[in-house]
Amino acid sequence: ALVSLRQILDHAAEHSYGVPAFNVNNMEQVLSIMNAAQKTDSPVILQASRGARSYAGDIMIKHMIQAVAEMYPDIPVVMHQDHGNAMNTCLSAMANGFSSVMMDGSLEEDAKTPASYEYNCAVTGKVAEAAHMIGVSVEGELGCLGSLETGKGDKEDGHGFEGELDHSMLLTDPAEAADFVAKTKVDALAVAIGTSHGAYKFTREPTGDILAMNVIKEINKRLPDTHLVMHGSSSVPQDLQEMINEYGGEMPKTYGVPVSEIVEGIKNGVRKVNIDTDCRMAITAAIRKVLAEKKAEFDPRKYLKPSMEAMQKICEDRYEAFGTAGQA
Ligand code: G3H
Ligand code: 13P
Ligand code: NA
Ligand code: ZN
Repeated sequence: ALVSLRQILDHAAEHSYGVPAFNVNNMEQVLSIMNAAQKTDSPVILQASRGARSYAGDIMIKHMIQAVAEMYPDIPVVMHQDHGNAMNTCLSAMANGFSSVMMDGSLEEDAKTPASYEYNCAVTGKVAEAAHMIGVSVEGELGCLGSLETGKGDKEDGHGFEGELDHSMLLTDPAEAADFVAKTKVDALAVAIGTSHGAYKFTREPTGDILAMNVIKEINKRLPDTHLVMHGSSSVPQDLQEMINEYGGEMPKTYGVPVSEIVEGIKNGVRKVNIDTDCRMAITAAIRKVLAEKKAEFDPRKYLKPSMEAMQKICEDRYEAFGTAGQA
């Protein structure tokens, strides 16, 4: 059944677990996640970016998610807009049946320029007011994703600000977070702690100076009742990097957010954990392997099926590690 983000995250807070939010844009990804959730008895957050909505089309996204809600009637499913850039994006998501929206007002509408605090409060508060009237949940974001190693904003895929960012903008300020939540009434708050989207987050295994888990602790002290969200939370598994490269890929060595750090975050109020890159890598590694080993193969199911199994494995691992398993 489709439920709101608030419903799932309130339960997660009550029972001290976290919920991975997986990005989706096609049937194979949606089915992989649902199979993992079924197997581990986990609640599900399916999220579609603006890019996903334009890739598949709003009607396809809507029906794909409604289809799995019908196919798996016992699993609660949230249909979430990832990184809404403006009021319009959030409203059109709601019109298409999304039960939750992210208004990312940390950036201007172009989704690149860092926005003022006043703009962020105003636009996020407006979205929350409209969404709450119809039972839709809202996630806001305060602070900009980006690297504490380079001082640069989130860069990959044209997401976020590409230039140098003030160090202070790369870390959410706990006092400001408290003010932001009070003013906007968001259900969940995405925080900036040095993670960025995509595979190239860190040039080494992250330590406290480049992955600021302490900021989460500080924010949680001020906002014990707010559900915190970690973006850019792929772990970028070394075995998947190796597998992609073994079968013809060329991924430079890179590091993601260790699962153990996310588990630490969950102990400190993190309830939603955004993951896209790990699933992309699992799919790509599996497809590369089949195509490299069976060069005569041309039935897409012959490589999509293994790619689904690989993605399902990532999802099951996260459900187990975050304590989501057994909570559906
Ligand atoms: O926000 C980042 C997610 O990984 C979605 O990426 O905009 O390429 O669909 P996308
Ligand atoms: P990753 O690129 O680390 O998977 O992050 C995804 C994300 O934050 C989507 O909003
Ligand atoms: Na989101
Ligand atoms: Zn994100």
